[in-house]
Amino acid sequence: MTIQHAPHIAALLARRDRLLGPDTPLFYDQPLHLVRGEGVWLWDHEGRRYLDVYNNVPSVGHCHPDVVAALARQAKTLNVHTRYLDETILNYADDLVRTFDPELSTVTFTCTGSEANDVALQMAQAVTGSTGLICTDTTYHGNTAAVSQLASVFTPVGGYKPHIRRIPSPDSYRVGAGLTGDALRDAYLSQLADAIASLQHAGLGVSAMLVCPIFANEGLPQPPDGFMEAAVKMVREAGGLYIADEVQSGFARTGEHMWGYRQAGPVPDIVTLGKPMGAGHPIGGVVSRRDHLVAYRRQFSYFNTFGGNPVSAAVGHEVLKVIQRERLLDNSREVGQYLRYGLRMLAQRHEVIGDIRGSGLFVGVELVSDRKARSPATQSARAIVNRLRERGILISRIGAHDNVLKLRPPLVFSREHADHLLTEMDATLTECQPNAG
Ligand SMILES: Cc1ncc(COP(=O)(O)O)c(C=O)c1O
Repeated sequence: MTIQHAPHIAALLARRDRLLGPDTPLFYDQPLHLVRGEGVWLWDHEGRRYLDVYNNVPSVGHCHPDVVAALARQAKTLNVHTRYLDETILNYADDLVRTFDPELSTVTFTCTGSEANDVALQMAQAVTGSTGLICTDTTYHGNTAAVSQLASVFTPVGGYKPHIRRIPSPDSYRVGAGLTGDALRDAYLSQLADAIASLQHAGLGVSAMLVCPIFANEGLPQPPDGFMEAAVKMVREAGGLYIADEVQSGFARTGEHMWGYRQAGPVPDIVTLGKPMGAGHPIGGVVSRRDHLVAYRRQFSYFNTFGGNPVSAAVGHEVLKVIQRERLLDNSREVGQYLRYGLRMLAQRHEVIGDIRGSGLFVGVELVSDRKARSPATQSARAIVNRLRERGILISRIGAHDNVLKLRPPLVFSREHADHLLTEMDATLTECQPNAG
């Protein structure tokens, strides 16, 4: 399908292609040229306003004045790196680790979520002496050579190495063989048992299971009860660690807890952080048990030139304080519940809505062309995302079939914003009838 673009957009696309190269990802059939943001709103080059129901990085709202001020203040004072004594970094680390369970008491700073996962993989290998890794079959955890091995939404350059085993993401909606309850849980666990046995048989051992505790990139499937507890127990019994990738699920996103792992159950051995941590400023981190960090540092003297520098620490600290001061955890829970209620009302009128799930302000709306057969309505999902963009609402889609609408606004999203979203979704769902695609 050839898409016509306005001259201004066509010129930017050509310039982008010339300077940044081909195949650099872009959202929407009609790409957006954004020039300003504030709170939950974004403006394009023509002054048109969009409700941001997608971006989790500016979780405290676009261009939050307190975060901007903290950044400017520290940038005017000092910016070096973590090889000097610095109280700005320590004050942030102190407040950050206090939000975790007590055993997760140390933090290692990085610049991105990918780097954080890379460090976590190295740490797990240093602790266990094993190299085998377990992840899900519909996932993405970052772009370094080691971490891209976990990706299933893209194939890593050079292909997959032999130390990766994938298990199906535990899904209670789109299940095989009509299983439910304990039988479904056990079916998923038996795939994990196979993965563990296969790694052991290959002589690789189990280094870690690395998963997002809410399975965000997998489309927010609801695991069968007891799955995570049993899965983590099995991994630990095999000598491996549980790494929770909180790059998407962390910092109050799920509304019930500051960290998604608390909702999932078991306390991880290692937690990785990114995206909303610096509201757009590049900072990520690895929160771990002290003995695990010691084992890693004994083997590799980790240093990151930019990671956790005083400006990044000042920004990260202010983001954390805003989340607490503005009670964004409560807002995420309350507005998330309100939004899901509104979506359930829409589902009574729109057959295309097969399932509504998620928690807090992270909501997945699975679209199906047949509710009984649960056939993925992938083309409808694409059309709806693009039509909503034309109507001034920004969302995206996820999941194995790309048929799950992804609603994940900044945490300052209010009931009024939810009402506006629901009104526009109602109109859009009426316009875009499902097809079998
Ligand atoms: C769950 C998860 N982990 C890690 C990453 C990688 O983070 P970054 O892009 O900051 O390297 C992503 C990015 O989309 C992600 O979704």
